[in-house]
Amino acid sequence: MTDLFSKFDPVIEIREQLLATGLTDPFNLVMEKVESPTVAICNGKRTILLGTYNYMGMTFDPDVIAAGKQALDEFGSGTTGSRVLNGTYAGHRACEEALKDFYAMDHAMVFSTGYQANLGIISTLAGKEDYIVLDIDSHASIYDGCALGNAQIVPFRHNDIEALEKRLKRIPEGAGKLVVLEGVYSMLGDIAPLKEMVAVSKANGAMVLVDEAHSMGFIGEHGRGVAEAQGIIDDVDFIIGTFSKSVGTVGGFCVSNHPKFEILRLVCRPYVFTASLPPSVVATAATSIRKLANSADKRAHLWENSKRLHAGLRQLGFTLGTDEPQSAIIAVIMPDLETGAAMWEALLNEGLYVNLARPPATPANMTLLRCSLCALHTEDQVGEILGMFAAAGRATGCID
Ligand SMILES: Cc1ncc(COP(=O)(O)O)c(C=O)c1O
Repeated sequence: MTDLFSKFDPVIEIREQLLATGLTDPFNLVMEKVESPTVAICNGKRTILLGTYNYMGMTFDPDVIAAGKQALDEFGSGTTGSRVLNGTYAGHRACEEALKDFYAMDHAMVFSTGYQANLGIISTLAGKEDYIVLDIDSHASIYDGCALGNAQIVPFRHNDIEALEKRLKRIPEGAGKLVVLEGVYSMLGDIAPLKEMVAVSKANGAMVLVDEAHSMGFIGEHGRGVAEAQGIIDDVDFIIGTFSKSVGTVGGFCVSNHPKFEILRLVCRPYVFTASLPPSVVATAATSIRKLANSADKRAHLWENSKRLHAGLRQLGFTLGTDEPQSAIIAVIMPDLETGAAMWEALLNEGLYVNLARPPATPANMTLLRCSLCALHTEDQVGEILGMFAAAGRATGCID
């Protein structure tokens, strides 16, 4: 019998080698108590959270929590059904209305996760005969959507406008074309040149889908994302997003102005063949989305936090993923996995949680300490964070 697990042996070996050094497992940390969007208790110790996607700090918003509790009381704990059967409650519709208002778009479709939104929309739109042109650093859910639909995948170099254009021009005349881009790339925290890329895509007859998972709520005047900030949101055919980041709960969605959009509710398998979100979740999401629309002050503070942390880390001598802060994600590049893991543990011992990111999630085989800021981090907390980076960096030899 061939052991079907043998293909995982290289991963098992890397993991065992790392843990044999006595290091805390960076992928098995328990949040014993969560006190606020920025502080938790880990290993019995107060820990500042700098590795969550809680960009706008909505998880403890009193209105959001009240809406969830009310829905739990009035509609129960779950729908036990698909959106197309018994699983569409008033709350799912209200959530889709909140999304339509937030994006000023005609249609919104709520999925059970952002992963399923990409999986469903991409696989349903682009089939075997169609071409998907995508940035090589695209999220796993985008790649999985391409694979599920069996489309022809044409990757291009990260954020390279010319490479995108070249690929588009090589696609046979008359074929269906979907260009898939992200607003913010979550590993290095860099943004896409969407304005140019959408123009090139349209000039070559392609439809465009933009995943704004890491920009919703924060980037753009109304928090609609990078497409809004670059003034081209009306040229984008589909925006994908998630409730698991700025919205502060779980779920995913697609918004669009396409006149035939609603038919997707009947033909999109990851929408049809799965249970819908619990009423409490859609109630928290709808309340959060409506509040995010009017959160300009929080957006401004989050930019301040991002700029302050970026400048401070640079001054300490760390190598960062971008020359300037472009989003709420600031990636600190580590020389290798061992040093990255040691630095991650030293930070945790100081009382700071960041994400340790490694291949295959990262581009170019990089090991990263990924910091994601929250609008509720105070100026003092950012100062504390920089102090912890200085101490851990010196203790591990990452900086002088
Ligand atoms: C770019 C991007 N798209 C989609 C997703 C999936 O979102 P969800 O957590 O809602 O499944 C993520 C999650 O990390 C993401 O980074």
